[in-house]
Amino acid sequence: MPRFDNQTVLVTGGAGGQGSSHVRAFHAGGANVVIGGIDAERGAALAGELGTRARFIRLDVTDESSWSAAVSDAESAFGALHVLVNNAGVQNPPATIENTDLTTWSRILDVNLTGTFLSIKVAAPALRRAGGGAIVNIASTMGLGGTAHYAPYVAGKWAVRGLTRTAALELGRDHIRVNAIHPGVISTPFIHEPAAGAVAAIADFYSPEPFAVPRLGEPADVTRLLLFLASSDAAFVTGSEYVIDGGLLLGPALQAETGPAAA
Ligand SMILES: NC(=O)c1ccc[n+]([C@@H]2O[C@H](COP(=O)([O-])OP(=O)(O)OC[C@H]3O[C@@H](n4cnc5c(N)ncnc54)[C@H](O)[C@@H]3O)[C@@H](O)[C@H]2O)c1
Repeated sequence: MPRFDNQTVLVTGGAGGQGSSHVRAFHAGGANVVIGGIDAERGAALAGELGTRARFIRLDVTDESSWSAAVSDAESAFGALHVLVNNAGVQNPPATIENTDLTTWSRILDVNLTGTFLSIKVAAPALRRAGGGAIVNIASTMGLGGTAHYAPYVAGKWAVRGLTRTAALELGRDHIRVNAIHPGVISTPFIHEPAAGAVAAIADFYSPEPFAVPRLGEPADVTRLLLFLASSDAAFVTGSEYVIDGGLLLGPALQAETGPAAA
């Protein structure tokens, strides 16, 4: 695992399923960690458990002043900010486009897209002051295709890809790399609990069984890729997108015993 001694990392949604895995791994790798999020109880508990080099800050990613406060807090507590992980995200309750109200559309885009825009806008100067760093945006395999009943989520994650590439171009000469990760279906509350306004959870109707790696992803799977992208091991990687989905986007895998007979 790469080391992050003397580096400060801010993870949004840092108390969530994937976020907490990322926070723990960066901390174990020597980083100072700032857990940004709206779940104060879990965030403060995680910071307390990790002890020194960890702090929670209330951060609503949709609010620019909240971003300014979080970045200032990271810099004043730890001296500089080097790595920014835009992990906070929300899903819409499943509905066709015709049945999606504007409030839902805006709420999902506010968190998943505008939150990422505000993050880069406010935090980039801090990364520049640090002499450079890395930004990793957590998008989704849903940002690479279409998924019926998830238009707000799909559209927002597609847009994060454009933001990622544009930011990589704008910030590259300041030694700030910007990349995106596209997780498949990862075992977190995101898939085990219904979205706000939904009756069923994704795990109620999704099975990984047909795919090449027939299991749900674990947060640690994503964490390992994230740590690579955030580290100097990825010094020549920017504007890139990494799928981590156990073969979901490949489509169903053929079982060996049901494959074509040898000629
Ligand atoms: N779990 C999956 O299958 C999956 C698949 C692809 C992509 N993703 C993406 O991975 C990321 C992490 O999701 P997860 O699986 O850990 O889910 P999760 O629900 O456990 O975590 C999401 C976190 O985002 C936080 N959050 C929501 N709104 C926020 C706001 N306005 N400001 C700050 N924080 C906010 C939540 O409090 C929570 O801590 C999300 O961007 C999600 O879209 C998840």
